[in-house]
Amino acid sequence: MRTTVTDQFHRPLQDLRLSVMDRCNFRCPYCMPKEAFGDGYRFLSSQERLSSPETLRLARLFAGLGVRKLRITGGEPLLRAGLADLIGDLSLIPGIEDIALTTNGVLLKQHAAALQAAGLRRVTVSLDSIDQAVFRQLSGGFDGLPQVLEGIEAALLAGLSPVKLNCVVQRGVNEAGVLDLVERFRGTGVTVRFIEYMDVGERHRWDRSKLVPTAELHARIHERWPLQSLQPSHRGEVAERHAFVDGQGEVGFISSVSQPFCGSCTRARMSSAGVLYTCLFATQGIDLRAPLRAGASDEDLVALITGRWQAREDRYSELRGQPSTETAADPRKVEMHHIGG
Ligand code: GTP
Ligand code: 5AD
Ligand code: SF4
Ligand code: SF4
Repeated sequence: MRTTVTDQFHRPLQDLRLSVMDRCNFRCPYCMPKEAFGDGYRFLSSQERLSSPETLRLARLFAGLGVRKLRITGGEPLLRAGLADLIGDLSLIPGIEDIALTTNGVLLKQHAAALQAAGLRRVTVSLDSIDQAVFRQLSGGFDGLPQVLEGIEAALLAGLSPVKLNCVVQRGVNEAGVLDLVERFRGTGVTVRFIEYMDVGERHRWDRSKLVPTAELHARIHERWPLQSLQPSHRGEVAERHAFVDGQGEVGFISSVSQPFCGSCTRARMSSAGVLYTCLFATQGIDLRAPLRAGASDEDLVALITGRWQAREDRYSELRGQPSTETAADPRKVEMHHIGG
């Protein structure tokens, strides 16, 4: 049976972003900088991460509460053994209409066909630059660009559709490569999406000067390849869609800073340790693993999830910049690699 749970601002719980792995094979400076995530960093052990049956059980309960869309994230989700089987099982849950995956793409070539066969519908690859040197800098010293490009090809060949790319644009870092990225993928069926750089996690020194606002990027792209805006493909879509007037596909813009979309945010996030967060910028989550492992019934777990969602008041991006959200006494925000963006 499916019910609907709404929060303090009447937003229903509809999407679940499931982080299945806290580790990553990259060290992007804005997410897992090498200095902080070196040999001494203690990632979760496999016992600490939810097992596949535990993940499935919770996903089923979320589906019963109205979740229709699952997005598998990390760290890097393709580092998780048995991911295709887990996705296969998740895809059979009644009520789940859409399963997507966000990956850095390095291992995608090996896994694309098996993931598609298991029930994965579509994939989003994080790619901040197609310039070798900038790619290397932004991935923390890896020369994985050719593998990522092959991974994107493999995803298209496997019939994962749509294939989207996420590019986080940072002023003075990768902004000069934006038109190259658009040019490379125009006409290929791959949609490039530009994301405003946000102050997620605590691992990087964010300030507004690093942000390249959507309006500026749109103008630059539109000047070269005229664009026309498209309707959202679903309610609450975070990306604004724009088609190339010459019919060569589309680009997207995710303006989380300049035009926050908290009003329609129906997303819950669960870490691989089974902690539920109700915002990307949450400072606290609720632990579902402990009660689950202590023998809680489905009803107990549903009550925990429902209670948390009903109490939800998060709208961090709308409040960003107001003194109350940026005091020195603020507790620390959850790290990006725990909840996958
Ligand atoms: P589809 O539209 O279904 O393809 O997925 P999506 O755009 O919701 O998912 P994706 O993971 O590709 O999101 C892209 C990026 O948008 C994320 O990596 C974040 O940077 C940003 N984003 C997604 N959801 C949120 C959110 O709830 N809040 C904020 N502030 N940013 C978000
Ligand atoms: N700002 C915006 N998006 C970010 N991501 C990671 N860090 C940031 C940030 N500071 C997004 C990227 C990546 C996904 C995993 O998270 O889109 O593709
Ligand atoms: Fe890995 Fe993605 Fe974080 Fe980069 S942003 S370190 S690819 S999880
Ligand atoms: Fe949702 Fe929080 Fe992002 Fe706002 S800042 S859209 S509430 S996750």
